[in-house]
Amino acid sequence: MRITVFGSGYVGLVTGACLADAGNHVVCVDVDERKVAMLTQGRIPIHEPGLDAVVKRNFDAGRLRFTTSAEEGVQHGLFQFIAVGTPPDGDGAADLRYVLAVANSIGEHMTEYKLVITKSTVPVGTADKVREAVSASLAARQATIEFDTVSNPEFLKEGAAIEDFMRPDRVVVGTDSEHATELLRSLYEPFTRNRDRMIVMDVRSAELTKYAANAMLATKISFMNELANLAEHFGADIESVRLGIGSDPRIGYAFIYPGAGYGGSCFPKDVQALRRSADEVGYEASILTAVESVNNRQKRVLFEKIQAHFGDLRGKTIALWGLAFKPNTDDMREAASRVLMESLWSAGAKVRAYDPVAMPECVRIYGQREDLVLCQTSPEVLDGADALAIVTEWREFRSPDFDAIKRALRIPAIFDGRNLYDPAQMARAGFSYYAIGRGQRSK
Ligand SMILES: NC(=O)c1ccc[n+]([C@@H]2O[C@H](COP(=O)([O-])OP(=O)(O)OC[C@H]3O[C@@H](n4cnc5c(N)ncnc54)[C@H](O)[C@@H]3O)[C@@H](O)[C@H]2O)c1
Repeated sequence: MRITVFGSGYVGLVTGACLADAGNHVVCVDVDERKVAMLTQGRIPIHEPGLDAVVKRNFDAGRLRFTTSAEEGVQHGLFQFIAVGTPPDGDGAADLRYVLAVANSIGEHMTEYKLVITKSTVPVGTADKVREAVSASLAARQATIEFDTVSNPEFLKEGAAIEDFMRPDRVVVGTDSEHATELLRSLYEPFTRNRDRMIVMDVRSAELTKYAANAMLATKISFMNELANLAEHFGADIESVRLGIGSDPRIGYAFIYPGAGYGGSCFPKDVQALRRSADEVGYEASILTAVESVNNRQKRVLFEKIQAHFGDLRGKTIALWGLAFKPNTDDMREAASRVLMESLWSAGAKVRAYDPVAMPECVRIYGQREDLVLCQTSPEVLDGADALAIVTEWREFRSPDFDAIKRALRIPAIFDGRNLYDPAQMARAGFSYYAIGRGQRSK
C-alpha cells in the first residue's frame, strides 16, 4: 500500500518506518530540512531503541523515502497520515496550526481519493476542522475530489515505540465511513494478526480516548506523588504502600511509582489541553486541575530537599544523573531535570550532569553555560560535587559503586527522585539519603 506520513518526529518516523517494514511504500514528509537531510543520509535525529535498524532496512529496500515536498507526499499515498506536533499554545490549548497546515496541503495537491488520518493528539472536534480545511483548499481550486477523515490516535511510548507499534494493545479508529474502516483494517492487519485489536468508534470518542488514556496515567502518577508526600509527613514508607496496593488486581502495579513528577511531550501538554477543552465547554475539570498542580509541585520536591539540606546553595555543585524525562529516550521536553537544574542555577549552584543519550539535547536547549558541566560518564560527574541528585531511572544508575560515590562527593548525600535504593542500606553505608515518600519529613 502507498502511505504518506506528515511529520518525522517520534510518532511520524516510527509510524512510517514500521508501516514500511510490513511491505508498504512510505513517503515521510517533514518541513524541517535538517531533519530530512539527516534521514536521507541514514542518520536518525532521535534516540529510540531499534528505530535505526528499521529505518535503514526499509530505506535500503526502497520502501521508505524522506522529503520536504508536501506535494510529493500528497501525490504518493492513498493513506495520508498527519503526525505533526500539537504543542500547547499560550493558553495551554493544543495548537492546531501544524495539523491544519497539512490538511490544507492535502486539499491543495490531491488529485484522487485520499484517506486523511489524524494520528497527532488533537482536541475533540479537530476532525471536523481537518475536513473543513481539506474541503476549503479543494474549493479554492474548484476541485471536487472525495476523501475521508479518520481519527487514529497513537498510543506508543517513547523508549519502546517500535515494540508498541509492531504489537499494539489496541488500534483505535474513529470514523463513520465503512470504506475507511476497511482500508485501515487491511493496513493494520499485519500488526494485529493473533487477534483483532482494532476498536472502531465515532470520531469524537476516538479523539477523547487518547486524552482519557494520558489523563488517567498522569492521574495515577500524581495520586502516588500526593500519597508519597503524605507518607513523609506520617513517617510511612511509600514503597511499602505501593506494594500493598499494587497487589490488589483492581489497582495493579503499573504506573504507581512515586517520583520527581511526570514530564515528556505528552502527559503535561495533554492534561493541560484537556483541561482547556473542558473550560471551553464550561465544565470545571477539578481532577485534571489537581493532577496538573500536584505534578508542578512535585517537580520542585527534589530541589526543596536539596535546599533544606544545604541551606544556602550558592557556590555548591550538584552532580546530576539523568536528563531525559524517562529512560531509553533523549527527549527532555518538560523533564523534571530541567526544573531541578533551573532551580539550582537560580539559587546560585552549579550542575555537573550525565545522561547516557540526552546530553546533545541538553546542549541544544541550554547551550554552553558556566554553571553546567556535562560529563561523559556517571562517575565523572561526582568529582568535586557536593551531593548527587538522580532524576532519570536509567538502568546503569541502579547498582552503582557506592564506595566510589562516597569517596568522590564532598558530602555523602544522595537526593533520589526515582527511589532507586534501599534507605536502610544507604544509612548503613553512611549516606544522607533523601528519596520520595520514604519516611523523611518534608519541610
Ligand atoms: N511523542 C510521543 O510519545 C507521542 C505518543 C503519542 C502521540 N503523540 C502525539 O503525536 C504528535 C507528534 O508528536 P511527536 O512527539 O512525534 O512530535 P515531534 O515534535 O517529535 O515531531 C513533529 C514533527 O512534525 C514536523 N512538522 C511540523 N509541521 C509540519 C508540516 N506542515 N508538514 C510536515 N511536517 C511538519 C516537525 O518538523 C517535527 O519534525 C503530537 O500530537 C503528540 O501529542 C506523541
